[in-house]
Amino acid sequence: MAKTASLTLDSGNVELPVLVGTEGNRAIDITKLYRDTGYITLDDGFANTGATKSHITYINGEAGTLRYRGYRVEEIAERCDFTETSYLLIYGELPTGEQLEEFRRNIRMHTLLHEGMKLIFAGFPPEAHPMAILGSVVGALAIYSPDSLDPNNPEQVEVAIHRILAKMPTIAAFSYKQSIGQPFVYPQNHLSYCQNFLNMMFAVPSERYQVDPDFVVAMNALLVLHADHGQNCSTSTVRMVGSSTVNLFSSISAGIYALWGALHGGANEACVKMLEQIQEDGGNLGKYIDRAKDPNDPFRLMGFGHRVYKNYDPRAKVVKHICHQLFERHALKDPVFQLAQELEEVALKDPYFIERKLYPNIDFYSGIIYRMMGIPNNMFTVLFALGRLPGWIAHWREMHTDSGGSRIHRPRQLYVGPSERKFVPLIKR
Ligand code: ACO
Repeated sequence: MAKTASLTLDSGNVELPVLVGTEGNRAIDITKLYRDTGYITLDDGFANTGATKSHITYINGEAGTLRYRGYRVEEIAERCDFTETSYLLIYGELPTGEQLEEFRRNIRMHTLLHEGMKLIFAGFPPEAHPMAILGSVVGALAIYSPDSLDPNNPEQVEVAIHRILAKMPTIAAFSYKQSIGQPFVYPQNHLSYCQNFLNMMFAVPSERYQVDPDFVVAMNALLVLHADHGQNCSTSTVRMVGSSTVNLFSSISAGIYALWGALHGGANEACVKMLEQIQEDGGNLGKYIDRAKDPNDPFRLMGFGHRVYKNYDPRAKVVKHICHQLFERHALKDPVFQLAQELEEVALKDPYFIERKLYPNIDFYSGIIYRMMGIPNNMFTVLFALGRLPGWIAHWREMHTDSGGSRIHRPRQLYVGPSERKFVPLIKR
């Protein structure tokens, strides 16, 4: 394999180092290209730009492979709970029993919010979107945690990691309670991570509430499967913001807002809305499948296809199984679920979808599962954020610990605006 790539420019040939990743993937290192030649590279949307070297997640879209720190995601989803998965992603190794217990203990210690933070929630209008609340209250953690803001102090970073992992579910559940006008339900530290979240979401002080064990299993699997996915938009945002050496809370808050956008975390919500719309329109699935296939119609079947996976998304395989188990137990009366099942069956047999490798993606199933759990549509992306949190932390930490910290991220641009112009005074314009 070539060790350098040759680039021919007007000034002559430039040899650029070729780097090879552990799975054989290759990259041309252009770090010194500008310094040596005055050229920059242009890659709108960074679709072909490696922004960093990373040890965390390997994705092969053609083969349908996703691995966390070398372990197949299917195996992690089957054998680890979300806290263990978080440890693996953040610290790079599966924990020993002792390490895991200590990690759980540290997280449990921090689940409560400062009472003053409740006043922040109280100031939000009732119609506020839970994602907007989540981003701003996570940002406010920097105000309430002045002793864990230094990214270059390993002890402070540890405390910040425990705090944010512990407090995000509390903030997420409180944002929902605020939006429906119910009292906040405080965390219960004898419950597991997912049990605790579901209890804070659905319990009310006036009733006994028992968390459904099926929902705990489903939520845990969904969080694990969303925990990291390489340099996606929100993770890149966390790295970009963090590269200025701002604290973890502010970096994660920025990532939450990046995730909120419909092109990123909003697909599962869009999928359930589409199913509801088809149902309201008489449940005529054929009509919508024909529309999706019509090249002159912009309509697409939400929850089908993936930019990276041109084979079955390995995460979708796992959630499909969970989704079908829940269907049998919980979804018998909801026509939207019947519709989802029919759609999946029809699309998997239709040559249009087969030829284009358009399989149901993780968002197809996750939206349906959340709906079965009684989670409202506007909380789906909040659940995605809870899942992606360890990935964001892992990348932020990797950036600060690898080779003594990274440089501030500062892409260049190809300026295509006007050349220097003579200023025209206001009176003459
Ligand atoms: N319904 C119908 N046709 C589709 C769909 C769909 N959901 N997705 C792709 N196609 C068709 C395209 O029209 C195109 O057909 P053509 O070759 O006849 O022109 C072909 O399949 C290839 O489509 P592209 O747009 O080139 O595929 P790309 O990889 O760019 O798009 C994307 C991937 C954006 C995810 C797309 O499949 C889509 O819009 N899906 C629906 C939205 C969705 O579910 N998004 C969530 C993705 S998962 C995630 O982000 C975690």
